[in-house]
Amino acid sequence: MKVLVTGGLGFIGSHTVVELQNEGFEVVIIDNLSNSSEKVLDGIVAVTGKKPLFEKMDLREKAAVQDFFARHSDLAGVIHFAASKAVNESVENPLLYYENNINTLVYILQELQKMESANFIFSSSCTVYGEADVMPITESAPVKPALSPYGNTKQIGEEIITETCKVSRINSILLRYFNPIGAHPSAHIGELPIGVPQNLVPFITQTGIGIREQLSVYGDDYPTTDGTCIRDYIHVVDLAKAHVVALQRLINKKNVDKVETFNLGTGTGSSVLEVITTFEKVSGKPLPYQIVGRREGDIITAYANTDKANNVLGWKAKSTLEDGLTSAWKWEQKIRS
Ligand code: WQD
Repeated sequence: MKVLVTGGLGFIGSHTVVELQNEGFEVVIIDNLSNSSEKVLDGIVAVTGKKPLFEKMDLREKAAVQDFFARHSDLAGVIHFAASKAVNESVENPLLYYENNINTLVYILQELQKMESANFIFSSSCTVYGEADVMPITESAPVKPALSPYGNTKQIGEEIITETCKVSRINSILLRYFNPIGAHPSAHIGELPIGVPQNLVPFITQTGIGIREQLSVYGDDYPTTDGTCIRDYIHVVDLAKAHVVALQRLINKKNVDKVETFNLGTGTGSSVLEVITTFEKVSGKPLPYQIVGRREGDIITAYANTDKANNVLGWKAKSTLEDGLTSAWKWEQKIRS
């Protein structure tokens, strides 16, 4: 069975391609290489021994999208990762985010709507919950006003899909990721942040390897156990596997609603200081850091209630924070060697 993975050379996309191939799917990747590299294909081949089909394409070009689907009318499903994801950049250039994340989604759905049936998996985010009132966060927690154009594209994306599925033969699963970290344990694929990383774990591994002088911890005066913010860090391989399970659910017509939503997290919250301590343990050396002021827009605490994914999807995160940091550190050391 053939599956389209948009953004399949990116961080979560490449790990999902590996898991799809491991399960016997034939994969076609579309990627515009805006935040990835064709070399990732070699990493995928090193893990699975199989080269996925790859088409370098920009999904903002509607004619190219139409042409692709005309040539691939036999898709068992589409997993749509291709999107921009930097919160700060989205504040500076909102239209870029609406064009990259919304136009492309519309063009793909327009083509899927023409098909006999279509299965569509969407990368959403825990960012839709904002500062949730109850922990752990369930899927029925209210969607809060987005704090950035990036966050807004995820909310609008979910709405566009829901409205379209209602009036078409498209079935969809929306996956709300908590904080993806780590790399493939083989260290053949991993995260490749461009410039100074905004996210905690790549900043930590770059500090560990000496590219950054020290980590700035954004605030230690939050109402949490140690004063630093709490997140649910999920290993990217666990996350990737959830996409395969979700796709199989749609292919086997096991979904009970045309659109289903699942949180993808571990269910455990970890503070920034806990992440630092765990990294120090796996790397065997102290991490230089300083406490600085709070970062604007940071929410205090977010971790998932994963009951729905566990019970309905039959998926559970297996890796620990330590596993995630060990693999991220192994990857960082490999790419700098
Ligand atoms: C984690 C914690 C920071 C960097 C991101 C996306 C969001 C959503 C989830 C996708 C926070 C602290 C960080 C640093 C630090 N993803 N930190 N020093 O903020 O949860 O959000 O992932 O949709 O949209 O933005 O992740 O990794 O940036 O931060 O102290 O240099 O680490 O304050 O508490 P976040 P993060």
